[in-house]
Amino acid sequence: MATVAELRARVREWRREGARVAFVPTMGNLHAGHISLIELARRHGDRFVASIFVNPMQFGPNEDFAHYPRTPGRDAGMLAAAGCDLMFMPDVHEMYGPGATPPTRVEVPEISSVLCGQFRPGHFEGVATVVAKLFNIVQPDVAVFGEKDFQQLVVIRRMVADLCFPITILGAPTVREADGLAMSSRNQYLGDEERRIAPAIHHALLAATRAIGSGSADLDAIERDGAAALAAHGLQVDYFAVRRRLDLRVPVADDRELVVLTAARLGKARLIDNLQVDRL
Ligand code: PAF
Repeated sequence: MATVAELRARVREWRREGARVAFVPTMGNLHAGHISLIELARRHGDRFVASIFVNPMQFGPNEDFAHYPRTPGRDAGMLAAAGCDLMFMPDVHEMYGPGATPPTRVEVPEISSVLCGQFRPGHFEGVATVVAKLFNIVQPDVAVFGEKDFQQLVVIRRMVADLCFPITILGAPTVREADGLAMSSRNQYLGDEERRIAPAIHHALLAATRAIGSGSADLDAIERDGAAALAAHGLQVDYFAVRRRLDLRVPVADDRELVVLTAARLGKARLIDNLQVDRL
């Protein structure tokens, strides 16, 4: 289904039947990580919608929008097999209109300008705008996002709270390859040697969370050690940071619920990952 009108008509029918609607927005090129989001969504709704839309607004001018892997036929098969009731695949015109003027934008301040926001200006504005539009189109009761994109999840939770969307947001745990690498569509940009090195990200995050979990209080040293471990493997580190889970601010002494986040470039891929940890 490709138009907003068709989707709304179908969802209206479901609502008349009293169904609870669950939604997973994606950019397609689905993998096991997406399937886990879908499984979680299906447990929370009677009807399930997935969208596939590679959102130009969340890519910077020198980023991979043109090359982002697009596999709609395969995605449709995977969604059908996963029990998806409706796949929404709008084109850019359907989502943004004729495009001569920029659309109304949704900006979630502060959280959007730190960490990945520092290296990808405008990215989270693009994400918040498209997700707000998709929420208004689908009007789900529940929506599921991966914890792999932890900053995105925090931005969306904040947007939903601030703009009073009547939607429950669920985070789904990151799905990993056997060697620890977080699943991502961008992993396919890695060459063989880079793919061998990439699990260093998970190992550095594990070392950091172990240090925090066993009582180490020097978070600056933990960040420095994590970044150095990745650099030693030849990754170009954008950041390696310990933050509060709630709002991604720098933790103060009383904060217990933390997350260690990193973004690093390896060849053509920019990889992000994170691990949550509770401080003693
Ligand atoms: O996580 C993604 O795939 C995208 O950022 C999202 C949430 C579908 C918005 O385009």
